[in-house]
Amino acid sequence: MESERDNNTSLPLASSTLGGSADVPVVDLSVTDEGFLVREVTKASEEWGVFQVVNHGIPTELMLQLQMAGKQFFELPEAEKETVAKEEDFEGFKRNYLGGINNWDEHLFHRLSPPSIINYKYWPKNPPQYREVTEEYTKHMRRLTEKILGWLSEGLGLPRETFTKSIGGETAEYVLRINFYPPTQNTDLTIGAAAHTDMGAIALLIPNEVPGLQAFKDEQWLDLNYVNSAVVVIIGDQLMRMTNGRFKNVLHRAKTDQERLRISWPVFVAPRADMSVGPLPELTGDDNPPKFETLIYNDYIDQKIKGWALEDLPVY
Ligand code: SIN
Ligand code: FE2
Repeated sequence: MESERDNNTSLPLASSTLGGSADVPVVDLSVTDEGFLVREVTKASEEWGVFQVVNHGIPTELMLQLQMAGKQFFELPEAEKETVAKEEDFEGFKRNYLGGINNWDEHLFHRLSPPSIINYKYWPKNPPQYREVTEEYTKHMRRLTEKILGWLSEGLGLPRETFTKSIGGETAEYVLRINFYPPTQNTDLTIGAAAHTDMGAIALLIPNEVPGLQAFKDEQWLDLNYVNSAVVVIIGDQLMRMTNGRFKNVLHRAKTDQERLRISWPVFVAPRADMSVGPLPELTGDDNPPKFETLIYNDYIDQKIKGWALEDLPVY
């Protein structure tokens, strides 16, 4: 029913790595006029499906600590990283140097919230501050996500809690992925993260200082400008589906750099696995019938994954 835009690895890689200049919206959250913020984030979600926020209230010091802890983990000897290796489920550390049109990275995945679903065995013990820093960061992720979902609900004329409730409120699942992309010589042939849309509701990402994230808009790949201390907000499949297509689930990918190590820290926010997700009744009607099937989120994930060949499984 829904046409997923997942197999975009067929898009020509070399020609499209050029990247146009992008004016991905940057929203300053220190503005006191909330109506303005509501309008800005809603417009950005409708037109782009991606935007950056600054003055978001996450202490710069904490962001630096999170980045430092992640980098220290990836710099450990392989054997130590393997102590949190991925098993059957998606959590854990994995080397993923597939190359070509596939991902080129190593990454660490683990759940952050709610506390009942956390597997601390996948959280690095080294560096020792990893857990404390990550737990503190999680609190900020939840606060900022709920704020943005609140504005997005209001932007569509709905009560503030609408989207937060639609993904399970306190039980919505937050997952961290740390992507580690070493430099690669031939950046025209190697992609860090292959083109994909995120399957959850929304993701909040911070990169290190090396650019690489690109968004597909108006038939071209656009580079996201690096904005100091910004958080990148990416609209995923479920917000697109809940809004009956009004919000864009932005197609995006990450390039590697020829000289520099790139690292990114997306936090994916998804509905609880057993929740039904589809176009909200408030946003559909006779003049706007549902364009997407309502599905249990877990079934949605299965369907999306089945559509991919195993070797080009994109990042979340
Ligand atoms: C990035 O590394 O900037 C993007 C990775 C992702 O989409 O998960
Ligand atoms: Fe993504």
